Amino acid sequence: MSIICDYSLKQARKDVEHVNKSMFDLFMEPINMQKKNYALLKPQLFTNENSRYIGSMNQEGTSLLAVAAGFDSIIDFVSSGTKDVVAIDVNPRQLHIGFLKLWALESLTYEEFKGFLINPKSDLFMKSGVFKDIMTGIPDSHSSKYYWMQMQGSMLPYSFFGKCFYDQNELYKEPDIVLANYVNDEDAYNKAKENIRNANIRFIHGDVRNIGRMGLSKFDNIVLSNVGDYIANGEYFELVTKDVMSHLSSDGVIMPAYLIEFSRLARKLHCSKEYKGLAGINPTVAKMNGLVDMFREIGGELEYFDTGHGRGSYVFSLGEETDAAIILRK
Ligand SMILES: C[S@@+](CC[C@H](N)C(=O)[O-])C[C@H]1O[C@@H](n2cnc3c(N)ncnc32)[C@H](O)[C@@H]1O
Repeated sequence: MSIICDYSLKQARKDVEHVNKSMFDLFMEPINMQKKNYALLKPQLFTNENSRYIGSMNQEGTSLLAVAAGFDSIIDFVSSGTKDVVAIDVNPRQLHIGFLKLWALESLTYEEFKGFLINPKSDLFMKSGVFKDIMTGIPDSHSSKYYWMQMQGSMLPYSFFGKCFYDQNELYKEPDIVLANYVNDEDAYNKAKENIRNANIRFIHGDVRNIGRMGLSKFDNIVLSNVGDYIANGEYFELVTKDVMSHLSSDGVIMPAYLIEFSRLARKLHCSKEYKGLAGINPTVAKMNGLVDMFREIGGELEYFDTGHGRGSYVFSLGEETDAAIILRK
């Protein structure tokens, strides 16, 4: 496994300070301010994406540019054959999470990994002793190692966890909700483990809006998760179709938007019956309808993913087809 991180020890120190600061200011800040400065938000430990869209993208031997976020989709890509990954996130603490997941995969068994990082009900969840075991294998030169060495002391008691991370777990509700393939069963986990050993992962702390200035080459797959929720529609469309697309190789595939279930689009599909009235909670998400149309005009297919459990997230339940990814092929 080869890992390159573009952030310094100084950044990791700042990240530790940030977590130790009271979150009160953030709660008091208007939501729009937080969205403007996404880097201030609590990082997301778990994916909220159903990684099944990966099946409809190129995989074997491909390169991937992705928003790091919870990192589970990236691990699923590598598990399906992707070798070279560039993971970007404006929130450096998301990169530390990705880093931790990689090293945890390297050193833990399936049950240990699930207990430590996926299932908050487990006795192993974020356990200091497990941190220590993982950290012993990591060279001191990695800034994320410093971050986690500091964090693991603060992680207990469990109540502290909610202060450090966005702790709603949409990824894993055994037995019926497991959104990432690699934690579905032991074989899938071991395949991910094996493939990660041969992968090259580069972490970039940065804003996708500056992608044109990062000196990146072209990629076979690009995954932007739901970053479009945090950038105004028109600006996002332009960013994707110009700067981001210019990094897509000639037969590449891009997922410019993942639509999570509380978007109006989801509501329009099958969900109105059980929709719990969250309309307006996220105006940019609500505008996604327009975004879908824009991408359709330039040839995007909207692919739906039946999550299989018919309930989607644990926030509230929806119809059968609750998640969608917009997929564009060059
Ligand atoms: C709500 S999370 C999405 C979680 C994701 N769907 C997953 O399954 O892991 C949004 C992610 O995008 C990142 N992000 C938001 N705006 C960004 C930007 N302009 N540039 C880079 N990353 C950004 C956030 O830091 C966060 O990691």
